[in-house]
Amino acid sequence: MTDHRAITLSQFVLQQEREHPEASGEFTSVLLDIALAAKMINKAVVRAGLADVIGATGDVNVQGERVQKLDVFAHETIMRVLGSTGQLAVVASEEDEGIVPMPDDAPIGKYVVNFDPLDGSSNIDANVNIGTIFSILPRITRKGQGTIEDCLQAGRRQMCAGYVLYGSSTMLVYTTGDGVHGFTYEPSIGEFLLSHADIRTPKRGHIYSVNEGNYARWSDGMKRYADWLKVEDKATDRPYSMRYVGSLVADFHRNLLYGGIYLYPGDAKNPNGKLRLLYEAAPLAFVAEQAGGAASDGTRRIMDLAPSSLHQRTQLFLGSPDDVADCEAFLQGRHEGLNLERRTL
Ligand code: AHG
Ligand code: MN
Ligand code: MN
Repeated sequence: MTDHRAITLSQFVLQQEREHPEASGEFTSVLLDIALAAKMINKAVVRAGLADVIGATGDVNVQGERVQKLDVFAHETIMRVLGSTGQLAVVASEEDEGIVPMPDDAPIGKYVVNFDPLDGSSNIDANVNIGTIFSILPRITRKGQGTIEDCLQAGRRQMCAGYVLYGSSTMLVYTTGDGVHGFTYEPSIGEFLLSHADIRTPKRGHIYSVNEGNYARWSDGMKRYADWLKVEDKATDRPYSMRYVGSLVADFHRNLLYGGIYLYPGDAKNPNGKLRLLYEAAPLAFVAEQAGGAASDGTRRIMDLAPSSLHQRTQLFLGSPDDVADCEAFLQGRHEGLNLERRTL
C-alpha cells in the first residue's frame, strides 16, 4: 500500500494531468487550493483540544478575538482560499443558506465547488474524527457570477470529489473519475503524500454503520435489513459488526478500506433522512463508485439525483456494492431473507 517514493499531492496531480490531459484541466488547481485550506483547517483542528484544555489563556482570547466555532472557521478558511483564485464562478456551503458569490474584485472562473466545511461537528469537543467534503463541477451558466443553477447539478456531472479526514493522521482522498487516491498529511513538511494509491473497496464487507437509535422510526424494510445483519449465518458471514463514529467522513473512510455499508435512512420524522445531497451524498457517491462501491437512495443511484434545492436531504445507502444491493432489496420488499430465517429461529 505504501509507496517507497514520496509523491506529493501536487506532483501526483501534475502527473495525472500529463497522463490524462483530456480528463484534467485547470480544475486540478482548485483541488490543490482545497488541499491548502485543509492544511489550515488541520492546524486549527489539532489545536482545538489544547485550546479547550487551557481555556481562556488561549491565543485567541488573549488577543480579544471572538472564538469561532470550528465549522464556521472551516467555512471561512475555505472561502478565503477559494474566493481569490479566479477559478470559480460560485460556491455553495453547508454553512451558508444561499449560494456564495465570488468577491467583487476577484476574477470569475469556470468551476463550481459545493462543500461541507466541517463534517461531524458534534464530535469536535470529544476529539473524535471530523472531516471536510468537497465536490467540483463545471459551471453551466456562461459568464459573470455563477448562479444557483450552477450548484444544483446531478452528481454524475462532478469532475472531482473527495474528503479530508482529520484524525489520528490527516488524510485527503479524492477522485477525478480515474480511481480513488489517498494522501496522508506529513505535518513536518506541510505536504500530503501519496499513501493509498488506487483504493478499491471490497465487493462485500462485514460492517454496517448506522444510528440504530432511530430504529423505532424506521420503515419495516429497513428494520428487517438491520435485523437480518445480526442473524448468525456462516454462509454469509453474519452477524455483521456495527461501527458508528457519527462523522460521515470517518465512517465512510473506514468502510471504504475495510468494506461494509453506511446507512442514513429516512424515518417517520424525516422521510429523506439527515444527509445533504450536494455536500455529503453526491461527493461520497462519486468516490464510492470510483472505488468499485455503490451509492443509493434506496431505489435510485445517488449520482443520478437532480437536486432542486441547495440543502436538499436524501436517504443514503453507501459502500460495498453487494451490501448496498442487499439493502435495496430489503427496502423494496424483494428480500425474503429474514422471513425464511424467522421460521427457523
Ligand atoms: P455535519 O456535522 O456536517 O452537520 O454532519 C453530521 C452528519 C454526519 O457527519 C453524520 O454521519 C451524521 O450527521 C450523524 O447523525 P446522527 O447524530 O443522527 O447519527
Ligand atoms: Mn456533514
Ligand atoms: Mn458540516
